[in-house]
Amino acid sequence: ERHGFDHYMLKEIHEQPAALERAIRGRVTPDGDVDLEAFPPGCFSDVDDVQIVACGTSYHAALYARQLLAERGVPTQVFSAGEYATTPAPVSEHTLVIAVTQSGETADTLASIRLASERGARTLAVTNVVGSTAARVCDDAVFIRAGPEIGVAATKTFSSQVAVLTLLRERLAEDITGQRGADRERVLRALERLPGDVQQVLDQSSVESLAARYRDRDGHFFIGRGVAFPVALEGALKFKEITYEHAEGFAAGELKHGPLALVTPDTPVFAVFAGQYDDKTLNNVEEVVSRGAPVVGVGSEESTDVAATVDEFLPIPDTHPVAAGVLANVQLQLVSYHVADLLGRSIDKPRNLAKSVTVE
Ligand code: F6R
Repeated sequence: ERHGFDHYMLKEIHEQPAALERAIRGRVTPDGDVDLEAFPPGCFSDVDDVQIVACGTSYHAALYARQLLAERGVPTQVFSAGEYATTPAPVSEHTLVIAVTQSGETADTLASIRLASERGARTLAVTNVVGSTAARVCDDAVFIRAGPEIGVAATKTFSSQVAVLTLLRERLAEDITGQRGADRERVLRALERLPGDVQQVLDQSSVESLAARYRDRDGHFFIGRGVAFPVALEGALKFKEITYEHAEGFAAGELKHGPLALVTPDTPVFAVFAGQYDDKTLNNVEEVVSRGAPVVGVGSEESTDVAATVDEFLPIPDTHPVAAGVLANVQLQLVSYHVADLLGRSIDKPRNLAKSVTVE
């Protein structure tokens, strides 16, 4: 069933081009519009603000979506679902609460949408599983069509969530603000190219030798800004989850507010560049370089300034930032996978973890 791959996780990483193809298929029209089946233009006209609830990797996809929605002027808050009830945010009938959940069965996420419904909000599930509890409990659902994910570590579902949330962002933003984003064409073209671009990363990635050099260190830090910030968080989560080594992700700008104290020649820093605010992140890279930390940069193959500053460079095809974050994340998935493999970890079933967390 693993079709020649040593682990489901690696198989699922390699399924991303096909999964993304399905996520987008029929949803971008030839004339450059977004067609989200049950969500025709105008269906979100009465929405004033958006709240997104999610856990783990899905929470990182939610943070990615917040960045995208903010760029289009849509007021958006993101909550780790386990904290949604503890920090009650104002909700009205004009609030759309989106649950991002691969399985559709995560207890904290379900509790959050039930609470949101009780408080009068409109709810929408973005999920992989048709017939899941989230799909049934929410007023509406959009399916990410990633196909079954067996590995406990979420990989292809993150990419598909981001793709679908990007399409949803276009619909929401147009309905709420009355305007199409100036770069909408480029965003949709980048999405259409994304399956092929991911394939290119998979075909050309050279992380195996890098993994051998970075597998036995004091800690591993991941930094980024804009959409690269949730990618940094996701890179660190995947790394700790399957390698059992210490990893932390930070907003690049937070580094000098504390974490820099931990940076030494024995703590590699993975810096994510998505073509937004790259110069600022490069400044942060220089701060860690001067502390002797080895830096692995992930960014556009055309970013010669990034490639020249870092110790090792993992290139991705040059594209719109919306897609660049997904591509950078694929490189980081491969890093985590290969480090975990070298360490002989139980990659598909990491200790203490379950695929679906059904208790709060
Ligand atoms: C990490 C991982 C988890 C899930 C989280 C939410 O690799 O898989 O962090 O993302 O448990 O699960 P869903 O998306 O099913 O709600």
